[in-house]
Amino acid sequence: MPFLKRFPDGELYVRIGGQLKGEDVVVVQSTRNDQDVLELLMLEDAVRQSGARRLIVVVPYFGYARQDRVFFPGEPATAQALAKHIELQADAVVIVDLHSTETLKAFTKPVYEASGIPAIARLLKQRPVDLLVSPDKGGTDRARRMGQILDRPWMALEKQRIDAEHVELELPSSVPIDLQDKHVVIVDDVISTGGTIVAAARLLAKGHVGAITAACTHGLFLRDAFERIKAVTDQVYSTDTLSNPAEKASVAPDIAQIVKRHLAELPTA
Ligand code: R5P
Repeated sequence: MPFLKRFPDGELYVRIGGQLKGEDVVVVQSTRNDQDVLELLMLEDAVRQSGARRLIVVVPYFGYARQDRVFFPGEPATAQALAKHIELQADAVVIVDLHSTETLKAFTKPVYEASGIPAIARLLKQRPVDLLVSPDKGGTDRARRMGQILDRPWMALEKQRIDAEHVELELPSSVPIDLQDKHVVIVDDVISTGGTIVAAARLLAKGHVGAITAACTHGLFLRDAFERIKAVTDQVYSTDTLSNPAEKASVAPDIAQIVKRHLAELPTA
């Protein structure tokens, strides 16, 4: 574990112990906030300064991923800018369920994407599921992948975002099963304000479903999001890419598998 402290003026200090000369090192750091970003960049440099042979950077939750393009003139493409800085000292980067593929294109070094879906699916195998639901079309692949693992049908809702906290959702024109009394799992990549999951759960409740599970890879659960979601669902599951009260499934085995698989391919000099 690295040693971290703050100087009296607030500047961050990082130091890693042990001998790293000639070693292959994996640094794991989610970039939930600006301090995490700085810690990661400093840690990467410390590993390099200590003579490590290869450095794989694992970013379980890649913050700023939703600022993945210039929407209005004068804005930065923040996610891409961050990608470029993170890869600078790394030989390869591993990210879990990146919000969009736009950011992946910014990397020039090998970048591998792990998924939180198998981890959540392992958890859901303990309880019969009838339908997987993505709250928007962009997440269809996630619901499909979970549906394929669990051998259950899936569908995507029609979503319109009103503002940062509110969305309007509708059922698609064709719903694969009769919802009544069924256990429905809403699958999303990120739960942030909770607005999307709450709206999805309310819509599904109108179809008299029997039980609702909300599941995500990255649980930010801002402000009272967790309580608001708990009030309209039966259970809430998240992976451990971020620490939160719904953290029930671990992506560690999936990340380890990727690192093991690709380490041998990376150049050593
Ligand atoms: C949107 O495209 C994402 O996949 C999530 O649905 C969204 O970021 C969730 O945000 P919130 O919890 O604030 O509705």
